Amino acid sequence: MLEVKNLSVYYENALALNGLSLEVNQGEIVGVFGSNSAGKTTLMNTIAGLTLDLKTKEERKGGERITVHGELKFQGEDILTAKPSERVKKGIVLSRERHPVFRDSSVEENLKISGFLRPAGEVKERMSQAYAIFPHLTRLKRRKGGLLSGGEQQMLAIGMAFVAHPRLLLLDEPLLGLSPLLQADIVRAMRDIREQGITVLVAEQYARPIFPAIDRGYIIENGTLILTGTGPELMDNPEVRSAYFGV
Ligand SMILES: Nc1ncnc2c1ncn2[C@@H]1O[C@H](COP(=O)(O)OP(=O)(O)OP(=O)(O)O)[C@@H](O)[C@H]1O
Ligand SMILES: [Mg+2]
Repeated sequence: MLEVKNLSVYYENALALNGLSLEVNQGEIVGVFGSNSAGKTTLMNTIAGLTLDLKTKEERKGGERITVHGELKFQGEDILTAKPSERVKKGIVLSRERHPVFRDSSVEENLKISGFLRPAGEVKERMSQAYAIFPHLTRLKRRKGGLLSGGEQQMLAIGMAFVAHPRLLLLDEPLLGLSPLLQADIVRAMRDIREQGITVLVAEQYARPIFPAIDRGYIIENGTLILTGTGPELMDNPEVRSAYFGV
């Protein structure tokens, strides 16, 4: 479904992604794991088209020079230079890191806004599905986004991505800053979303709670692929065990 081949991204002369290749098949949950500044957000933003957008903006104001090399294909089609909105229309939807939501809009309004590219009838139905995935949000429909807890904002952010009708849902650090209980909720939601036929690519630093849910995973360091395998293979790998499980 998604093919990333030899993808490199430079910010000025700093290499953020170094010839990275990975693939995601229809119906999978695939994890990308790595510590701070490994390149997870750069990868997600490049797949969603935000890196290219940033590059254009920087060029316009004569700022930072950003270079993107490599191949990016979605369902066989080259999307490396497609605009973010075009990618959303094709079904690539990113829930960004640190769950940005509209702070002055209610939960209900936030969900509605993210369906703006979709037909109204469909948005209504997907909003009720989003509440089914995160029942906790049902009680908060009228609360302003800015008044939600971090975990509630994260649920809302993923709910918003869901309403935009992804075929491939990209989640950048969905567990960041959440309690173990809320982390388990998010992992369960990821599985529910996949049950609805949506493919999931999730980037995380705190891999431990996510490992059991993934079909396959990639471990990256300094923008370079270190290791790849199925969920069980990675969990059995001694290096992974010491780095992520402390054993
Ligand atoms: N706009 C930018 N300009 C310059 N360097 C950047 C920019 N964005 C990211 N970088 C650098 O690229 C590298 C990869 O960063 P990235 O944010 O992709 O990592 P990450 O794995 O998401 O980290 P974290 O876990 O902290 O979110 C880092 O060295 C970072 O400093
Ligand atoms: Mg990041």
